Amino acid sequence: MSILTESLFQPGLLAGVHIKNRLAVAPMTRVSALEDGCVGPLMTEYYQSYAEGGFGLIITEGLYTDKAFSQCYYRQPGISDAEQAMSWQPIIRGVNKTGAKIIAQLMHAGGLSQFNGFKGHSAAPSAVRPLGQQMPFYYGEGLYSIPEAMTVMDIESAIEGFVEAALRAKEAGFDGVELHGANGYLLDQFLTTYTNQRNDEFGGNLENRLRIFQQLILSVRRAVGSAFILGVRFSQTKVNDTEYRWSEGAAAAEKTFRLVAECGVDYIHTTEPDMCEPAFEGSDSLAALARRYSGLPVIANGGVQQPEGAAKMLNSDQADFISLGKAALVNPDWPNRVSKTGQLREFDFAMLSPLANLQYGSEYLEGLAD
Ligand SMILES: Cc1cc2nc3c(=O)[nH]c(=O)nc-3n(C[C@H](O)[C@H](O)[C@H](O)COP(=O)(O)O)c2cc1C
Repeated sequence: MSILTESLFQPGLLAGVHIKNRLAVAPMTRVSALEDGCVGPLMTEYYQSYAEGGFGLIITEGLYTDKAFSQCYYRQPGISDAEQAMSWQPIIRGVNKTGAKIIAQLMHAGGLSQFNGFKGHSAAPSAVRPLGQQMPFYYGEGLYSIPEAMTVMDIESAIEGFVEAALRAKEAGFDGVELHGANGYLLDQFLTTYTNQRNDEFGGNLENRLRIFQQLILSVRRAVGSAFILGVRFSQTKVNDTEYRWSEGAAAAEKTFRLVAECGVDYIHTTEPDMCEPAFEGSDSLAALARRYSGLPVIANGGVQQPEGAAKMLNSDQADFISLGKAALVNPDWPNRVSKTGQLREFDFAMLSPLANLQYGSEYLEGLAD
C-alpha cells in the first residue's frame, strides 16, 4: 500500500454507521438462489469470502421485491416474503461478525424481466420493447417481450412492494437497503425518455419522470424510520444500452440528486463506465456531481480495478466510498491483497461463462494459480 492509496483504508460513516474502510462490493447478480428465491449455503460462502477478504461494506445482488412484476431472472434471489428475507440471516451474521456491513439491493425488473415465476408477462412505464437481446449468462434468450404499460395502481403496488421488502430487510437484520434506480431496470425506465412515454404525472418532463423516486423514497423512509441506511443507485448507461446519457445533461444531475437528498436517502451510489470521467461534456464525474448537489456520502462505481484509480476518487473529494464489481469477483480479497502483497488478478469474462452463477465462478477461481 502506498501513501496515495491509504485513504481506501480509512474508516468512514454511512448514516452514522461505522464502515471500517472505503471499499464496498458492488451489487452483482449471480443467479444462484434456490428455486424458491431463498439463498443457500453456496451463497453464504460467496458473501463471506468478501467479508473475510477485507471489504468494509457489501451491497447484495438485486433482490426482487414482490410476487408481481419485479422478478428479473431465473434463480434470482427474492425478498418478497419472510422466508426469503430470513434465509439471508446466516449471510448477514457471518458478514457482521467480521466487522463488515451488508446492504440489500432492492430491484424491480420492469420491462427487462427475462423470467417471472409469478406473472406471464412483464410490466413497465410504457409498452415499449426494450432494446437489445436478453442476457444468456442470466438464462435469457432472444428479444425482450413487449411489457404491459403500468396503470397508476400498478405503480402504487410496485412502490408498496419496495416498502414491504425494505421492512423485511430490516427485520432480517440487514444494515440497510439500496433502491436500484440504475442500469435500465424499472426505476431507470421511468427516468429514461424513450422507455417512458406516459402522459400522466409519471411521464413527460424530468420532474414527472422523477416522481416515482420521490414517492418511493418518502414511503420507504416513513416505513423503516431514520435508523436504517437507505441509499439509491443511479447510472446513465443501461445493461441493454451502453450509449444513453441523461437527456437534460448536467441539469438532470442537479435536479435528481437534490431531490433524492430532500426525500431522505442517506447515500447515493453512482455507476458509470469509468467513474473518473466527466459525466457530461466539461462537467465533473457523476459521483462528484452527486456529492455536490446532494451533500450526502457517495459511493462511486465503474471501471476501476487498481487501487490507484479508486483512491484518486477519494483523494480528490469526488466520492466517499468506492464499490468494485468485476475486480472483486476475481479478487474477493481485494482489500487484503492490496494492503498485504499488492498482487491483483485480472478479471476475465470467462469467469461468467456460460452462466454468471456461483458454480462457474468458483470453478474458475479454483483453476487460478494463486
Ligand atoms: C455479473 C454482474 C452482475 C451484476 N449485477 C448487478 C446487480 O444486481 N445490480 C446492480 O446494480 N448492478 C449490477 N452489476 C453492475 C455492477 O454493480 C457494476 O456497476 C459494474 O460491474 C461496473 O463496475 P466494475 O467496473 O467495478 O465491474 C452487475 C455486474 C456484473 C459484472
